[in-house]
Amino acid sequence: MESAAATPEGDLVTITGLTREFSSGGGLMTPRRTMRAVNDVSLRVPRGKVTGVVGESGCGKSTLARLVLRLIDATAGTVAFEGTDLANRSPGQMRKLRRRMQMVFQDPYSAIDPRYTIRRALLEPFQVQGVAQTAAEARAAVDELISMVGLSPRMVASFPHQLSGGQKQRVGIARALALRPSFLVLDEPTASLDVSIQAQIIDLLEALKEDLGLTYLFISHDLSLVRYFCDRVVVMYLGRAMEILPDATARPRHHYAHALLDSNFEPDPARRKVITMLDGEIPSPFAVIPGCAFADRCPAASDLCRRERPVLTDLGGGHMIACHHPRD
Ligand SMILES: Nc1ncnc2c1ncn2[C@@H]1O[C@H](COP(=O)(O)OP(=O)(O)O)[C@@H](O)[C@H]1O
Ligand code: SF4
Ligand SMILES: [Mg+2]
Repeated sequence: MESAAATPEGDLVTITGLTREFSSGGGLMTPRRTMRAVNDVSLRVPRGKVTGVVGESGCGKSTLARLVLRLIDATAGTVAFEGTDLANRSPGQMRKLRRRMQMVFQDPYSAIDPRYTIRRALLEPFQVQGVAQTAAEARAAVDELISMVGLSPRMVASFPHQLSGGQKQRVGIARALALRPSFLVLDEPTASLDVSIQAQIIDLLEALKEDLGLTYLFISHDLSLVRYFCDRVVVMYLGRAMEILPDATARPRHHYAHALLDSNFEPDPARRKVITMLDGEIPSPFAVIPGCAFADRCPAASDLCRRERPVLTDLGGGHMIACHHPRD
């Protein structure tokens, strides 16, 4: 586990032991079952850098994103923003803080009401936060936002359905930037886009990060993309951090990370479905697994792996791995 106190001055966000349980059933016919969507995850998000979180669908990425922004409460663990636990902030402080931490979603439709013009969608964050503006200020703010994401100001009168997928995602990013945040959580922002459009959005995010001094938590199921774009990478499986790569040059050594890399080596986006290209099934999130959660799918699994859960340990230089038999 990473130490929360390692480099406090360099970290915008520090996540320690973060856990979130969900329950189902508990009715007359079905017993109540509890699963951990996010299970004891600790990581640092250095200021001005891109921290990546990668894993297959259902491994807990979106739950982690929502926990980090405190859109949902944690079952255990803490999220500190600039050194202060978010759970200790008053509702008033939290409201102010919301301006500084924003989310970009995979499907911009989930953030933009299809009945609104782009202008109205871009003005909404100001209204939600009670930021008063004259008509001229509002116009200027919208023009600036739309230009920042590389769209023409003429587009503000359009409705979402008149925009392409890439343009819609640019609007989603512009909306997230409206209140000048310092921290963006990007939850699979390019997953529904073609590869060429995906590259343009990544370039835009890179430029915005430099221009505005932003810090990103970038979530994706695509390890190749995450390794390309991110400074640090956290590989998640069934709610747990399996490997943390400290920089873009570090070679993955966890068997799951390797399987992810191989399965992502498919340039055709229509076939880039990680989950179908790895052997074996992901265990039920409700299953109680005594050993390594990846053992059923791992080519190197031993009796030890099935018996004892490997703990996240430092291989040196902040390269963390939870595996009994790491790859060379
Ligand atoms: N609100 C919820 N209620 C019950 N289960 C949930 C809820 N949100 C997520 N889950 C479960 O938590 C697990 C992780 O989900 P999620 O964080 O959405 O994963 P990912 O974003 O990596 O696909 C899944 O098994 C999912 O079904
Ligand atoms: S702990 Fe064992 S089963 Fe799990 S990834 Fe490592 S070698 Fe494979
Ligand atoms: Mg998700």
